[in-house]
Amino acid sequence: MLEVKSLRKSYGSKVAVDGVSFTVGKGETIGLLGPNGAGKTTTVSMIAGLTRQDSGDVLIDGRRLQGDTDPVKRKIGLVPQDLALYDELSAGDNLQFFAALYDISGSKAKQVIAEALTLVGLADRAKDKVGTFSGGMKRRVNLAAALLHDPDILLLDEPTVGVDPQSRNAIFENLETLKARGKTLVYTTHYMEEAERLCDRLVVIDHGKVIAGDTLRGLYRLLPVTNILEIELDDASGLDLALLRELPNVTSAEISGSVLKAGVRDLSTGAPGILQWLTAQGRTYQHVVSERPSLETVFLSLTGRSLRDV
Ligand SMILES: Nc1ncnc2c1ncn2[C@@H]1O[C@H](COP(=O)(O)OP(=O)(O)O)[C@@H](O)[C@H]1O
Ligand SMILES: [Mg+2]
Repeated sequence: MLEVKSLRKSYGSKVAVDGVSFTVGKGETIGLLGPNGAGKTTTVSMIAGLTRQDSGDVLIDGRRLQGDTDPVKRKIGLVPQDLALYDELSAGDNLQFFAALYDISGSKAKQVIAEALTLVGLADRAKDKVGTFSGGMKRRVNLAAALLHDPDILLLDEPTVGVDPQSRNAIFENLETLKARGKTLVYTTHYMEEAERLCDRLVVIDHGKVIAGDTLRGLYRLLPVTNILEIELDDASGLDLALLRELPNVTSAEISGSVLKAGVRDLSTGAPGILQWLTAQGRTYQHVVSERPSLETVFLSLTGRSLRDV
């Protein structure tokens, strides 16, 4: 559906996007995950044809975008990072304006505007001025605007930044609806929880380069340790950790107070072995927890930096 090939873009001596490539299949949702300044916005604006790349190609259904008036462009809808709404106009009138940009008018415009507002849950606010809306509601109007021409591919540039938790959830539900309708979504974010919830596949970018591209599961496989199993023992004294470390899939073992922390490469195969071994050693325990592997850990192990701290 969408193929991005070696996109490059510099601003003066600053390289914003440095050879980004990825593909997105029909109906797939991919997350473009990276810290602020990674090059996400520049990448989506090149895909949307708003920023001209220095080199590289964007193919839609195998066809290259030919300039600004290419009809193929209508297959794309962009929800930009920066809001582009008139506060003095109502939600409906703002959408009327966007519809006109796509040559949609009259009863057709009325219909698509009503549908889009219903999808984002703002049908009853159509006549209210956007200036009275919360940040989250404005984002949803933005999302509605990108849907008017019924694009197959939706590019979403950090749609939940600065949005209250309730609206954030509403936006997620809207996106899940669109996903269920078979839309192809490209979702940029620096929040890994969002990427984990919504995306089938992730393209991790940093300093304008793709540093990993895979499913969540595949990304976790890049980690030497995917889970830490913590077992609170009744008595941890004299436990032979060297023996424990030799068990299959166990990558590390340490004791802190009465808590045993064991790193496992794969929880399903590693955890039973550890628990059985403890029982065989005559050890009893009261509490077992495992830390979920997270994209944060993946990012840290790929870059040596934390996603949140950059
Ligand atoms: N119009 C511009 N002029 C100069 N530098 C820019 C411009 N747009 C982006 N950049 C720079 O390019 C890099 C990537 O920016 P951007 O694509 O906005 O990243 P992200 O969306 O991942 O935060 C940043 O270092 C940013 O400062
Ligand atoms: Mg950005």
